[in-house]
Amino acid sequence: MKPVGIRQIGQHGALAAVNHDEAAREDFIASMYFAVQANVFPGNRLAYDRRVRPEFERGHGRAPEDRHEIRRAMAGEPLFQWWSGLRRTTQEMKQATGEELVHRQIGKINEEVARINRTGIGTLRLDPGLPLPGYASKVDFHGQPGGYYAERCAEDTTPAAIYDPGVFVLTKGFMGPYCEAAGASAIGFLRERFPDFEPKTILDIGCSVGHSTVPYSITYPEARIDAIDLSAPMLRYGYARANSLGHLIHFSQQNAEATDFPSGSFDLVVSHIVLHETSRRALRNIFAECQRLLAPGGLMLHVEQRQNEGLEAFEQFYYDWDTLNNHEPFWGTLHDTDLAELAADVGFATSDIFQKMVPNVVSADLLRSQIDEGQDFKRTSTWLAFGAQKKS
Ligand SMILES: C[S@@+](CC[C@H](N)C(=O)[O-])C[C@H]1O[C@@H](n2cnc3c(N)ncnc32)[C@H](O)[C@@H]1O
Repeated sequence: MKPVGIRQIGQHGALAAVNHDEAAREDFIASMYFAVQANVFPGNRLAYDRRVRPEFERGHGRAPEDRHEIRRAMAGEPLFQWWSGLRRTTQEMKQATGEELVHRQIGKINEEVARINRTGIGTLRLDPGLPLPGYASKVDFHGQPGGYYAERCAEDTTPAAIYDPGVFVLTKGFMGPYCEAAGASAIGFLRERFPDFEPKTILDIGCSVGHSTVPYSITYPEARIDAIDLSAPMLRYGYARANSLGHLIHFSQQNAEATDFPSGSFDLVVSHIVLHETSRRALRNIFAECQRLLAPGGLMLHVEQRQNEGLEAFEQFYYDWDTLNNHEPFWGTLHDTDLAELAADVGFATSDIFQKMVPNVVSADLLRSQIDEGQDFKRTSTWLAFGAQKKS
């Protein structure tokens, strides 16, 4: 697969401009990531099978038992160090490039966002007094400098202006031109599993800049859509982005662990790639809040990357790379968590809990279910759809 270029990103009014040199750098970074994964990464397995595991077995009289033992054994392996260093460097180059291109024009972006938002459809409700939980504010997730929350001036959108095109570059466009794949894939799943479900009220938690929120507005144009996040810069930017794309969405700055919406307000509560950035305690609180917010018959649906269950120890080892090397401290913990047990714990009936690996859907096939029961999902699936229905 060839990486797409930064210029193929879906355009909207708040997006940073990219000049020739910046585009070349972004495209180089995407290509470098592909090259590292295609040419260096496979060597890890060879090194493990031929050198690291036999040596471990000689020393311990048994094979490594889990990913932690494999990680410790692989830490001294030069090929692993080389691959890991290259991957980390690629990520740092991406963040540096994104920061640089946004900093040279952030005044203009902030002005444009404010201009769009002055006449916006929908609403934007910010709460400057909202306490930021440490699990969110103390981590620069995936190495983004300043994380999601650093505000460098009044009405700032810097974290969002970096994050938005950054997701496109880091995922090499595989999430679609508007990075819509997590939302679109969730909708594909809903269409397949609950074909008659037509939510009138939808809440997207941890919406960030609204990449996944907009597909709900496209698919359910009659529904009232709320989107919440802890980050004011993300919400300002997300509101402008939605407005510039013509979508009526109500954004508010709230903690998904305890929102101000009345109980039973929503037919559908969704999150996309949020849970792996929350602590274990917050995860439980978020599930409990989803349960409270759902109307009878309503659905909770979380889209994430896959769990560790079903992966062999070596696969878990490299899947877990982000936990220690990419500022994702909750990554491995989430992937080890029994989500069904947690959902049952907050009040969902075990028989109403569901999970499925679903394929990646991008805008070209946004409204078409991609689910083919005949497919081998272990190879082709991309997202975990986990959720539960609140029957009464
Ligand atoms: C990876 S981004 C989510 C991306 C977005 N959902 C999408 O699909 O494009 C994670 C977001 O979750 C937000 N977040 C984390 N914990 C939260 C919480 N307790 N309440 C609300 N938002 C939260 C962060 O501020 C951040 O913007």
